[in-house]
Amino acid sequence: MPTLLIVEDEAKMRRLLELNLAEEGYTIHVAADAEAGLNQLRQTEVDLVLTDLKLPGMNGLEFLQAVKRANSLVPVIVMTAYGSVETAVEAMKAGASDYVLKPFSLEEIKLVVRKELDVRHLRQENRSLREALGQRYQFKNIIAHSAKMQEVLATVERVAPTNSTVLLGGESGVGKDLIARAIHEHSRRASGPFVKINTTAIPENLLESELFGYEKGAFTGAVTSKPGKFELADKGTIFLDEIGDVPPAVQVKLLRVLQEREFERLGGTKTLKVDVRLVAATNRDLRAALEEGAFREDLYYRLNVVPISIPPLREHKEDIPYLAEHFLARFVAESGKPIRGITPAAMRKLMEFHWPGNVRELENIIERAVALARGDTIDAADIHLDLSPPPAAAGSVPFLPEGMTLEQYEDELIREALRRARGNKSQAARLLGLSRNALRYRLSKIGLAEEVGEEPGE
Ligand SMILES: Nc1ncnc2c1ncn2[C@@H]1O[C@H](COP(=O)(O)OP(=O)(O)O)[C@@H](O)[C@H]1O
Ligand SMILES: [Mg+2]
Repeated sequence: MPTLLIVEDEAKMRRLLELNLAEEGYTIHVAADAEAGLNQLRQTEVDLVLTDLKLPGMNGLEFLQAVKRANSLVPVIVMTAYGSVETAVEAMKAGASDYVLKPFSLEEIKLVVRKELDVRHLRQENRSLREALGQRYQFKNIIAHSAKMQEVLATVERVAPTNSTVLLGGESGVGKDLIARAIHEHSRRASGPFVKINTTAIPENLLESELFGYEKGAFTGAVTSKPGKFELADKGTIFLDEIGDVPPAVQVKLLRVLQEREFERLGGTKTLKVDVRLVAATNRDLRAALEEGAFREDLYYRLNVVPISIPPLREHKEDIPYLAEHFLARFVAESGKPIRGITPAAMRKLMEFHWPGNVRELENIIERAVALARGDTIDAADIHLDLSPPPAAAGSVPFLPEGMTLEQYEDELIREALRRARGNKSQAARLLGLSRNALRYRLSKIGLAEEVGEEPGE
């Protein structure tokens, strides 16, 4: 119940108010003069002040100002003698919430007090709601309770409405696709298209025509003309996934689109203009690719206007319980299984894992757990983690074979990867954890580039 402070010098009136308002259930503090009133205000939590405007020791308006200085949010109702309406108006101007003219009925004063407290309550509720909504960046389908993910979303919110190019970095499965889409959905282009292209999913020789389109007869098989992704994304957003794998020839064309917003279709002569916002993603360190010469520096700087790095799941484990519940709800709805929740033991297991595959891996594991669960909860036994050994533990670190230099050893590894991939460069690059361009660069360094050539079937 709210606490009231009554400041009134007339003892009888003070007592009357105290008794009647206490009857309403309020906690009451009383003071006989301004000085005592201010002391009370400093010492106790007060929800409302009811004060006479004629007090000994301090003029009523001065007192009101002192109250506001002590607690600017507390509502103050002033009581003033009939015939001194002007003083009441002055008091309102000085920050009083309401006034009652003496003599008043007790019903009247109870009503005014209740109304003021209701308003205050609503205001507080409003404020906490606004805070809950405003400080927490909330995006549909994105779980982000940790400070690290909140920071990511704060940047997304700031950058989304602009037209700036965004470069998303982060390991596989951290949510780059999800964030790219959120940027589009919170931009002024939201009603326009969102066009995604994954550069590693498209054979190198087709990537250029996918991106920029082609005219009839541009190459064998081009029996009609076709618009590229950039044309399709006009007035919208294009999302270039795995930008680090774009071959040099395409990098040049991308640079031109970014600089001039124009390009030609393959085999075309007409220059096309597009209004497109670019969001790119990479799971590699593009700066390393720069140093190796596999990625154009000028393109890198064009892309890296607003870098957003999404942390791996092991760096924001606080989100695991929320993510787990989120995925559980989804898979339970999809499967129709009557699963109520995740047991504390299962949750502990999830919290302790290092999640090399990030959120995607967590999602898969919850899906599997839901599919396999026999009871009405997900227990530790339903959680099947991939426990293949993490990278070499201390003490058992492999080392260079006797008499070999690092460079020779690296060459050997590259040759071995090519053998295992039967000459397929993309696959070899994947085995080595390199981009195709980085591998191409290394191959040319050891004079292998020509031997391998382009792989047609890819
Ligand atoms: N913060 C998150 N909240 C909810 N789901 C997430 C979150 N991050 C990732 N996911 C989900 O995990 C999966 C992998 O995310 P994705 O965006 O494809 O990662 P990336 O593109 O970085 O490999 C997707 O199904 C995605 O919806
Ligand atoms: Mg992705």
